[in-house]
Amino acid sequence: MTQKDTYILGIETSCDETAAAVVVNGKQVKSSAVASQIKLHEKYGGVVPEIASRAHVENILPVVSEAIESAGIKPEVIDAVAVANQPGLTIALMVGVTAAKTLAFGWGKPLIAVNHVHAHLQSALLEAESIELPAVALIVSGGHTNLYDAESAIDLRLIGRTIDDAAGEAFDKVATILGLPYPGGPNIEKIAKEGDPKAIRFPRSLLDKDNLDFSFSGLKTAVLYHCQGQDMKGENRVASMSRQEIANIAASFQAAVIEVLVKKSHRAAVKIGAKTILAGGGVACNNALREAMEEMCNNNDLSLLIAPKKYCTDNAAMVASLAYYKYEAGQFADLTLEPKATSD
Ligand code: KG4
Ligand code: ZN
Repeated sequence: MTQKDTYILGIETSCDETAAAVVVNGKQVKSSAVASQIKLHEKYGGVVPEIASRAHVENILPVVSEAIESAGIKPEVIDAVAVANQPGLTIALMVGVTAAKTLAFGWGKPLIAVNHVHAHLQSALLEAESIELPAVALIVSGGHTNLYDAESAIDLRLIGRTIDDAAGEAFDKVATILGLPYPGGPNIEKIAKEGDPKAIRFPRSLLDKDNLDFSFSGLKTAVLYHCQGQDMKGENRVASMSRQEIANIAASFQAAVIEVLVKKSHRAAVKIGAKTILAGGGVACNNALREAMEEMCNNNDLSLLIAPKKYCTDNAAMVASLAYYKYEAGQFADLTLEPKATSD
């Protein structure tokens, strides 16, 4: 007897993307709709929570309808409604949580709550055939830089994290220092291609410490000092810098971030005896990081499962995918579910 397929509708509104997706059996992405708010936040140089929340309210129903229609299904087919309820901007998460609770109640379907950061890890497994465990999972996003010991999709143990800025946050802040547009990560990567990653030796924070934590705020300050002088009294030289000089700073900054991420991932793998490294989150879109991770894994006999670029940044396919394993494990939420700014 063949087993019945499980259809899950996922919803994600933790930051500045309104997303909904339908995923079958945790793997097969039937649809993945994302309404980006980049244009709305661009002029402020970062995400404004109030604006994000209002845009989610406008976008949520059209995005959910789009996900269901392009999956070619009727709502009756859906087995559960899943939502990222943490961590993130509370007033942004609130929109997704309210929509998911309403749909689950209206359709008489179970509700599943998903941790957004854990879901990022699932993006690395979406198109993977199989995975050799144990694995180390690196999540590098705008809000988080975490290392996990992953025994399964829903069995994650946090073994390292940033003690200050997240890697993506550092990319975004350094982009602002260099006068590059929001979002910073892709724009730093673009100009870094023209620069020399060895031009400036920026600090590799916490690399000398035998732990799995990260720190990127000192690196960001080092870039600021480089541009404005140690006492911060000098004029900001960026306006008078050549494109080559800016490219060299971007490339040198990017190289410092990548070296730390790759070396700490390797250290984590050695520590837990991992066979596989998983990587996801917005910063995992970065080609230089992807190549450096690949080289490290090849040199150390580790398999690398890195999320396809289209699933690195915030999306709901990863939410629906992770929810499948919670569905199988009978881990359901009820209608008292609330959004939470931080992880449980
Ligand atoms: O995962 P994500 O979409 O949202 C969060 O959960 O935070 O990640 C967004 C972050 C931003 O900081 C953005 O600058 C960064 O990912 N990012 C990149 C690249 N693309 C996005 N960072 C470096 N290189 C990229 N190509
Ligand atoms: Zn995210």
